[in-house]
Amino acid sequence: MTGQVEGKIALVTGGASGIGAAVAELLAREGASVVVTDIDELRGPEVVAGITAHGHRATFLHQDVTSEPRWAEVIAKVERLHGRLDILVSNAGIGIAVPSITEMSLSDWRRQTAINLDGVFLSVKHSLPLMRKTGGGSIILMSSLAGLRGAAGLAGYCATKGGVRLFAKAVALECASFSDGIRVNSVHPGIIETPIWGKIPTEAEGRGQNAPIDPEERAKVAVPLGRAGQAEEIAAGVLYLASDAARYVTGTELVIDGGMYAGGVVRRG
Ligand code: NAI
Repeated sequence: MTGQVEGKIALVTGGASGIGAAVAELLAREGASVVVTDIDELRGPEVVAGITAHGHRATFLHQDVTSEPRWAEVIAKVERLHGRLDILVSNAGIGIAVPSITEMSLSDWRRQTAINLDGVFLSVKHSLPLMRKTGGGSIILMSSLAGLRGAAGLAGYCATKGGVRLFAKAVALECASFSDGIRVNSVHPGIIETPIWGKIPTEAEGRGQNAPIDPEERAKVAVPLGRAGQAEEIAAGVLYLASDAARYVTGTELVIDGGMYAGGVVRRG
């Protein structure tokens, strides 16, 4: 049986951990050759080793998504290695929580925006020419439920993820206007059990005003389905958008959040 993205070339940023790692593993299992990039030079190669140990295809490249020169090098390397790019999953991101926006330093605001928004802009800017050269593709930008509605303590994060959502729609329309065969969509996870939650309190330059957040505890109360999501459940949505099954899907947002965006529920069972 052929995989859902058989023979395609995929680039996944932030692929060393959590959602990015699950996406890289699933795309590879479904037949893609995956280029995994991350700043984490320890876990990135481990993810790739896990993929190749199962007989699938993957390569690791060190990349800080905020560096424009590195983006040019990474895309040139993808072209040298594979001659094309069919799938971009712009996933690398961080979350910085503060008790009040008045306590957010400009350097934290800029650092989060540099990764979550500038990084996404650069990924699209540098991937599009190669995708256009080789006949089209699918771009998937990792936003968040926090890109659809506000969250106290996460105003800066919400600003970046809301930006990603509309950036995706605008680029989708640009690509459609050029008839370049490129589809662009955003994915909006709710509360997903990944290492990001443990990093949130300490991200703020060691100040860490918040107690560590337990996603499972939070999900029991906030998520209609009553549990946190798994990275694989986000990867399944990314696979759909990456595959030809989604050939008529562009400029849309895929919410995978156990029902949070729909509203709250009073549990009766
Ligand atoms: P994670 O912390 O497990 O993985 C993020 C990866 O991005 C890490 O491997 C990290 O090294 C990498 N990264 C950080 N800065 C980077 C940079 N400058 N350049 C390249 N790579 C960098 O987090 P998770 O949960 O897997 O998050 C992935 C994406 O999903 C993020 O964009 C996040 O905002 C988004 N998201 C996550 C949710 C969750 O509940 N876990 C909910 C909604 C959205």
